[in-house]
Amino acid sequence: MRLIAPSILSADFARLGEEVTNVIAAGADWIHFDVMDNHYVPNLSIGPLVCAALRPLTRAPIDVHLMVQPVDALVSEFARAGADIITFHPEASSHVDRTLALIREHGCKAGLVFNPATPLDPMDWVMDRLDIVLLMSVNPGFGGQGFILPVLEKIRAARQKLDAWQASGGRKILLEIDGGVKVENIAGIASAGAEVFVAGSAVYGASRAEDPNRYDSVIAALRAELARV
Ligand code: DX5
Ligand code: ZN
Repeated sequence: MRLIAPSILSADFARLGEEVTNVIAAGADWIHFDVMDNHYVPNLSIGPLVCAALRPLTRAPIDVHLMVQPVDALVSEFARAGADIITFHPEASSHVDRTLALIREHGCKAGLVFNPATPLDPMDWVMDRLDIVLLMSVNPGFGGQGFILPVLEKIRAARQKLDAWQASGGRKILLEIDGGVKVENIAGIASAGAEVFVAGSAVYGASRAEDPNRYDSVIAALRAELARV
């Protein structure tokens, strides 16, 4: 399974509803929703009100990436706002196991996010509570940054852990990558073992220059690269 999740952080916020429906019509699988609090990361983005406003526009899963500290109060708000998937950074929660349980109690898929220099160790102790693992391939806070190459090795390490878990009877856990994913590098990232590809500037930036409503060509190009792997 390989899924493309455009990050609306790079969308035109003055036309956000259209940007969401257009990108799904163009073949995207999920909407990646970046939440920044100007505390855990040095930027401020969008909150549960925006999620609730977008929810009726699409049946595609909304993938909420929380870059916030503390985490728990916003989990409940985003669940009520219609999030399907909620991920958070383990170092931003005082009680990682409890936060994962809270997300699942709300009926959402739960995941941990690891920054480029954060070790994967915490996932070993909560595998049974994970639906997804998200690896950051940029430092969180901004769209449009370059892919940090050593993260490719980390994708391979995470892939091994997840395969071993599934081979021992564990549930399928998706491996998602976020930051600097482009047509030029998505095949290499997929070869390393990623399955869900967040792409912000590659999708919303590239196509807007040509035609504000056409995302088909860039999504098709990403899928063509994935088909080579
Ligand atoms: C960064 C965000 C990413 C970002 C991706 O903190 O989590 O989702 O928007 O943007 P690009 O694809 O432009 O690196
Ligand atoms: Zn993100």
